[in-house]
Amino acid sequence: MTAAGIDQTISALRVSAVERAEAAATQEELEAVRVEVLGRKGALNTISKEFGKLSPEDRKRIGQLLNEAKQSIEAAIETRAVAFESAKLNARLASEWLDLTLPAPGPRRGSLHPITIIQSEIEELFVSMGFTVLDGPEVETEEHNFDALNIPADHPARDMQDTFWLEGGNVLRTHTSPVQVRGMRKLKPPFRMIAPGRVFRNEAVDASHEHTFYQIEGMMVDREASVAHLIFFMKEMLRAIMHRDVKIRLRPGFFPFVEPGFELDLQCFICAGAGCAVCKQSGWVEQLGCGLVHPNVLRMSGIDPEVWNGFAFGLGLTRLAMMRYGIDDIRWLQSGDLRFLRQF
Ligand code: PHE
Repeated sequence: MTAAGIDQTISALRVSAVERAEAAATQEELEAVRVEVLGRKGALNTISKEFGKLSPEDRKRIGQLLNEAKQSIEAAIETRAVAFESAKLNARLASEWLDLTLPAPGPRRGSLHPITIIQSEIEELFVSMGFTVLDGPEVETEEHNFDALNIPADHPARDMQDTFWLEGGNVLRTHTSPVQVRGMRKLKPPFRMIAPGRVFRNEAVDASHEHTFYQIEGMMVDREASVAHLIFFMKEMLRAIMHRDVKIRLRPGFFPFVEPGFELDLQCFICAGAGCAVCKQSGWVEQLGCGLVHPNVLRMSGIDPEVWNGFAFGLGLTRLAMMRYGIDDIRWLQSGDLRFLRQF
């Protein structure tokens, strides 16, 4: 090739390489241009192989031309590469865009469990009538759960409550009545106490039976504590819970720790006593167990039954919550299901 021919080839190469770099649609296309023109086996290197045949002046001039061509092609490739990079960055920014002026979603507000709601209402009511709220262990001794409540080992009453027995002879308390025992041994008469809490029975679980449920126990010990007192407090309690006047009736009921013992029924407020499905046509709904504390029970906890009398009652908080809120399956209460809990 002549020197003039090389001149021309270089300028043509320079023009076309710059154009191709500027028009490259992708990074791959751009890279192809670079390899083809500037690469080790690329067009510019091929031309420099012709140098040996040139005069020293031509060699110098063409060397300079080659350098200039190389620099402007490199610059065009670099400019295009920068454009690709910033387009990529812009696309990322667009996809990651955040509206910082939007209000935050915020934590969802929790709610109280229906049992907790009823329990605190009853606690508040009894505290206002001079009762102390007591707590007791859920794992109880056999003595507190049975013996001290006048339920001796061979007594059939133990079968009334299907008990979870633990290794070592302790039990999961089957009722809140052992807290009566703890109360009698701790407080000096006269006293009034209530004890809400969780109780356990070895039941087959279905819509109306649970192995775990809630009761509230109440007890008053004084020089005079009669059935009339008992009725007064029960009516006050039920009126406050039901938010209306209530009619009650007592039927004889057997609990070894009270004498006399009663089942207290509430007149059905769905049908006002006329009879309906809720009260199974009887007009009355069984509500709680109660009675005057058995002298044996007082004596076993160090209270002289010649001087002191007492009444006691125990009622199912779980049942009450179900009635109040129209919950038709007891299993909801322990389900932890947020769809259920969020309704309260
Ligand atoms: N503890 C009894 C029960 O669980 C209820 C009760 C308490 C009855 C106090 C009378 C007096 O069935």
